Amino acid sequence: MALLKFLSVLALFALLFVLSNNGVEASHKIYPRYQSLSVDKVKQIHRTGYHFQPPKNWINDPNAPLYYKGLYHLFYQYNPKGAVWGNIVWAHSVSKDLINWESLEPAIYPSKWFDNYGCWSGSATILPNGEPVIFYTGIVDENNRQIQNYAVPANSSDPYLREWVKPDDNPIVYPDPSVNASAFRDPTTAWRVDGHWKILIGSKRRDRGVAYLYRSLDFKKWFKAKHPLHSVQGTGMWECPDFFPVTLSGEEGLDTSVGGSNVRHVLKVSLDLTRYEYYTIGTYDEKKDRYYPDEALVDGWAGLRYDYGNFYASKTFFDPSTNRRILWGWANESDSVRQDKNKGWAGIQLIPRRVWLDPSGKQLLQWPVAELEKLRSHNVQLRNQKLYQGYHVEVKGITAAQADVDVTFSFPSLDKAEPFDPKWAKLDALDVCAQKGSKAQGGLGPFGLLTLASEKLEEFTPVFFRVFKAADKHKVLLCSDARSSSLGEGLYKPPFAGFVDVDLTDKKLTLRSLIDHSVVESFGAGGRTVITSRVYPIIAVFDKAHLFVFNNGRETVTVENLNAWSMKVPVMNVPVKS
Ligand code: FRU
Repeated sequence: MALLKFLSVLALFALLFVLSNNGVEASHKIYPRYQSLSVDKVKQIHRTGYHFQPPKNWINDPNAPLYYKGLYHLFYQYNPKGAVWGNIVWAHSVSKDLINWESLEPAIYPSKWFDNYGCWSGSATILPNGEPVIFYTGIVDENNRQIQNYAVPANSSDPYLREWVKPDDNPIVYPDPSVNASAFRDPTTAWRVDGHWKILIGSKRRDRGVAYLYRSLDFKKWFKAKHPLHSVQGTGMWECPDFFPVTLSGEEGLDTSVGGSNVRHVLKVSLDLTRYEYYTIGTYDEKKDRYYPDEALVDGWAGLRYDYGNFYASKTFFDPSTNRRILWGWANESDSVRQDKNKGWAGIQLIPRRVWLDPSGKQLLQWPVAELEKLRSHNVQLRNQKLYQGYHVEVKGITAAQADVDVTFSFPSLDKAEPFDPKWAKLDALDVCAQKGSKAQGGLGPFGLLTLASEKLEEFTPVFFRVFKAADKHKVLLCSDARSSSLGEGLYKPPFAGFVDVDLTDKKLTLRSLIDHSVVESFGAGGRTVITSRVYPIIAVFDKAHLFVFNNGRETVTVENLNAWSMKVPVMNVPVKS
């Protein structure tokens, strides 16, 4: 046991070492030389076609997503002065459909003593009178001391919510002496139980991750509860907590205050230490204001993730116009700070995803919002294409650098699945993918897609399944392996992976990948396991990018049905006419 613990700590340090040596920081490191270096040229080559990004500069967390008077609002952490983190304001865009975006001037920016050193992440709450309020973290000094503020629309009859004011009774929450003031941030959407409003604020106590709970009766004066809603030893700083109900019956989303016996709760935190998120599903005791994760779930950094790849600081919101709960996540770059400076931009927002509880109650399911399908244009199909061992077949006729692919694979039996080495049970899925990869011959799999591939496969990002036979059942691994993605240098190229808890009785596995120049967002088995990779091919760009289906397993796999679409470019960053 002690050895295991030692090994996992070692693995964590190794991970942090790898991250810090590839220009991907374990937190937003400050680069005084770069952060205000204005961008005069924006490199187009790896910019996304349909994933959200501003015209230039650095972005990180999505903030306060909300729906108001027929418009979706997306705010996000933005450096107006440069392509690395710093000078943070809330940039603001609006959309009628979550896909086409018009831009507005930044909504919240340093202007008061309580946010002069930065306006960090936060959330929106829609009050019973229908008006939104934003809570955000203000930075008050050079030591990054953090307090919580609120802002309200200057004119709530404006559906664009162009202008926000910070009333004089700010701040709403100070860190008391027991709280670590430089680790006290990212207020959640408020929810209400029996007339009492509640919010969470992310923090840590030594290396214990903490979600502090604050209560209010009037939405103005907030008091800290005696106990945090939840905390977990050894997880470090909890950034961007998110806490929301999901229904036990069906796929509809619930407003954040909904409770009752037909509801479970989800607590998600973003771990600054590993830059991964995890979530649990559990029971919220409204009276005691305590959250109890289901015992079968891992409550720590090896827990369930929305996304087993590059996905962080996510936030959900309830969309009352369609009764969905929608998840936004940020994907950082996987290149170096120097490369970001040269590109003139860094960071994208991933395609918003609908989230709901799997009928098993053991995990969440996710799917890109249906509106994305409006961007589908030219379509090609494969039907009943047999993939014998060693085969790869090109999917021709679409823009493979900017595509949406949806495929169902089937196989005659599970007999050829390789044994699952019991030693792997303690490993992260990523380590198993690192050992087994897409090239090593397998039994049932590896099979899947080769995305952003050069014609001769000098570069490609494989997204694939491998099925293993464990003592009691089959284990399905989904990998999105960036190791062969680029001949370029100075890149972080991890073999991201997650296990897929899926029933194989019908001997089928489905995969949907959203491919967009430097991002591949993949949904395995109907959104049971999702992985995002950022990759920077040098050859496989624009019309030199190709898409293949492949199989390197001994078992023949059939592409029962594949649909691939070229994706159009939505409206993006067009200023709203005043
Ligand atoms: C997460 C985060 C938040 C913070 C913000 C600052 O990426 O570190 O905790 O509020 O980014 O930009």
